Amino acid sequence: MNSIKVKSPATLSNLCCGFDILGMALKDPFDIIELISKEEPGISIKHIDGYGLPSDPKENIAGVALQAMMDSLHYTKGFEIIIEKNIKPGSGIGSSAASAAGIVVAANELLNRPFTKQQLVSFAMEGELLASGSRHADNLAPCIYGGLVLIRDTQTLDIIEIKTPPLFITIIHPQIEIKTSYARSILPKDIPLKSAVIQWANVAGLISGFLCSDYQLIGRSLQDVIVEPIRSKLIPGFDEVKKKSLEVGALGGGISGSGPSLFMLSETLSVAKQVESEMKSIYNNLGIDYKTYLTEVGQNGVEVI
Ligand code: HSE
Repeated sequence: MNSIKVKSPATLSNLCCGFDILGMALKDPFDIIELISKEEPGISIKHIDGYGLPSDPKENIAGVALQAMMDSLHYTKGFEIIIEKNIKPGSGIGSSAASAAGIVVAANELLNRPFTKQQLVSFAMEGELLASGSRHADNLAPCIYGGLVLIRDTQTLDIIEIKTPPLFITIIHPQIEIKTSYARSILPKDIPLKSAVIQWANVAGLISGFLCSDYQLIGRSLQDVIVEPIRSKLIPGFDEVKKKSLEVGALGGGISGSGPSLFMLSETLSVAKQVESEMKSIYNNLGIDYKTYLTEVGQNGVEVI
C-alpha cells in the first residue's frame, strides 16, 4: 500500500466550562486527506479546495505535523498530501486540528501503525502550535480518539475517553473570522478564586452528567463564567441564540472553541431542528451569512475511507 485516504472530522472544544481540557468529535463536517508515499525525500502539498492555504510544508499545519512524525522516525523518503478541506479555517470547529490529526493518522496507517494515539496527538500538536501559537489538544485529541475526551494534562498528554449518551448537536457558523490566537490573547492571565470554583464545579457536573446520561445535569453544567463573557462580545447574536435555543428546549451550549461558531446540545432530533431554525432566523435578521450543521457525536474520530 502506498497511498491512503482518510476523513478527518470537525470537533467541538471547550464545551463551555472545559476551556482547553474538553473536546468532542463530530460526525460532520469533515475534511478528506489523501497521503501518497514517494521515493524522493520531502513533503509536497496540494489543496483541492478554495481556501488558499499554504502549500509550503513548513507553513502548512498538516506539513508541520507530518514532518514532526517523520523526524521522529528518521524517515528518509517523502510524501505527497492532497487536502480537500470542508471545515472552513477560522470557524471554531477544529479546522486546523482536522488537518493535523488527519495527516498523522493517515501516515501512521500507511507506515503500519508505529505510533500510539497519544504519540499521534503529540505530533499533531506541532501543527496546532503553528495555527494558534499554543499547545492545546482539545480539538486534536477528540479528532484522533473520537467521542468526548478530557485532556487532564497537556505535558504528559493524560487523555481520558468519556462515554456520552446520544446527543444532537446544532452548530451555526456565522461567516466572520475570529483568529484563535486573538481570541486567546484577550483572555485574563489570572482569574478570581470565586470564578474558578464555579467553573470546576461545572466541569465536574458536566462529566458526571455525560457518564450518568443525566441530560438535565449536562444542561445545568454547560456554563462558562470565565471565557464566554469575554469572547461572546466578538460574536453578533450570541445572547439571542442562547436564549432562543434554551426556550425551545436545548440542554445548553455556547461558543464552539474560540468561535465564531456557536453550538447547542439537545436530547432529541426534533429539538435540535428547532434550535437550527431559531439560529437561522436570528442570523437572517442580523443580515450575516452563516452555515448550519446538525450532527451527532463522532465516535470514531479520523477514519480510513
Ligand atoms: N481551547 C481552545 C481555545 C480551542 O478556546 O482557545 C481553540 O483552538
